[in-house]
Amino acid sequence: MNTNRLSKTICAALNNQMTKEAHAAQIYLSYAAWAAEAGYDGIANFLFRHANEERNHMMKILEYILERGAKVTVSAIPAPPANPKNVQDCFEKTFQSEVDNTEAIYKIVKLSFDESDWATWNFIQWFVKEQTEEETMVMNMLDKLKIAGGANASGESLYSLDRDMQSMPDDATLAQEKTAENP
Ligand code: FEO
Repeated sequence: MNTNRLSKTICAALNNQMTKEAHAAQIYLSYAAWAAEAGYDGIANFLFRHANEERNHMMKILEYILERGAKVTVSAIPAPPANPKNVQDCFEKTFQSEVDNTEAIYKIVKLSFDESDWATWNFIQWFVKEQTEEETMVMNMLDKLKIAGGANASGESLYSLDRDMQSMPDDATLAQEKTAENP
């Protein structure tokens, strides 16, 4: 009896996304190592924590493929890009990486909609929200860096930013969670 509940196309897209999440983890890991080497321990700590989040995303997709009776294919992870040139470059590249990942998630949303695969459509909505959070989180980091002086930030303001990022929460608060009393 065939118990596979995923189409070939959706299964391939999810397996591909699993690799993309693993790649995102490698990118965070390499930027974190770069930041640690450059002496930005707070930024490194934040990026190391985020590398783990990306691996968790990979696991969620892996578990979902198994749960739907389909085949998991673990593929090679592409190498991360070259190290950033400075903190501004690091945050900008991180933002671009999140936007690229969002685009990939949206493609799965569209695919599941087109195939009326409502289980996958429902599953992938978690990632839509997560990507909104992650894009917001990196935009907040870029905002903070801009206030600190952007690419020309002084050593002193980078010191403060780095210290703050050590304790920065892993997730940004989304508009859906805000109220008039608690903006
Ligand atoms: Fe799992 Fe930041 O994408």
